[in-house]
Amino acid sequence: MTWLKLVEGYMPMQMISELGLSILVFVLVNWALHRSGMGIPKFWAGVGVFVFIQLYLKYRIYPPIPFSVRAIYGTVSACGIFMWVSGSEKEWQEFKRPILNVMDGITNFHQSVRTAMLVVIPLALGGFAYSSFLPSFEEPIELRTVHPAPPATTKVHGKTFVLQVVENPYRVNADGDYDQGYTDARIVEQAMGRLMKDVNDPNYNPWDPNADGYIKYVREGGEIFFQNCHFCHGDNLNGRGLWAYAFNPIPANFTDAGTIAQLQETFVFWRVSKGGIGLPGEGFPWASVMPPWEQHLTVDEIWKVVMFEYWHTGYYPRTWD
Ligand code: HEC
Repeated sequence: MTWLKLVEGYMPMQMISELGLSILVFVLVNWALHRSGMGIPKFWAGVGVFVFIQLYLKYRIYPPIPFSVRAIYGTVSACGIFMWVSGSEKEWQEFKRPILNVMDGITNFHQSVRTAMLVVIPLALGGFAYSSFLPSFEEPIELRTVHPAPPATTKVHGKTFVLQVVENPYRVNADGDYDQGYTDARIVEQAMGRLMKDVNDPNYNPWDPNADGYIKYVREGGEIFFQNCHFCHGDNLNGRGLWAYAFNPIPANFTDAGTIAQLQETFVFWRVSKGGIGLPGEGFPWASVMPPWEQHLTVDEIWKVVMFEYWHTGYYPRTWD
């Protein structure tokens, strides 16, 4: 029922007044019918009101209310209807009569209704029980913010890091100063799964034992990665590690432009330190198995492994804009 709009903000009041109005109309109609001698029997009046309220709650209310809440409202309205039909002894007798008539089977018609009931009720209950035990193959709706807003500061190994200002101490140029431009120029290029920069140049080959500065730290980060992270995040950093398929959500694929490439380095530092368990509320209800690495790695090791992930994927960390 969408032609009659629910007014935002007034919905609960609108709902109560609509229901109240319908009951009032119902009472007036009932009263008028009684006066003209064609009153609806109490039993059917009660059933009608109950069904009307249920239909109203199911099809009129938006957003839809869950069955459990409708069941509560249904019970409350059933209580109200019982109070109404049992207001006096005479009315109560009148209400009960059709039920007793069926149970006693006073006429052939009532007997056949009784037989039909005896067949239909067990079948309906059985069907209900059966369908409620059937496994469901629908995926649950899970709205998870993959990259929730980071906190302003994070405390790792007793030290507080202000994420907006802290810098990766290993992202340094030949003079040992923080220099993102210098290091960005030295990330690896990949093609067909191979690292493409000149492997004879120690500035580019992190596996060279003589490499120093930035590229030496990248190598150390690589060692940390292959000791700790590749089981999940994969040898190629593409999220296809040995264990990856056991998890939901699956481990992040760093080669995908949607992960570290669009994150600040300090965001990644925070994520690696705190893991899935450290995600704020909007990161749930998915249960991320990403471990809180502060429990296993030092601050320096975390910085190095983060830098390795950028180097290997060929992405630059996003800068604060
Ligand atoms: C047990 C499996 C597992 C291991 C081991 C693991 N991770 Fe993860 N990691 C995940 C999963 C699953 C996710 C995706 C869910 C999430 O964001 O928490 C993830 C997400 C991340 C993210 C967030 C990426 C994004 O886009 O927000 C980073 C960064 C990360 N991992 C780094 C690491 C590093 C570095 C290591 C090793 C020190 C590591 N991970 C080890 C399972 C793992």
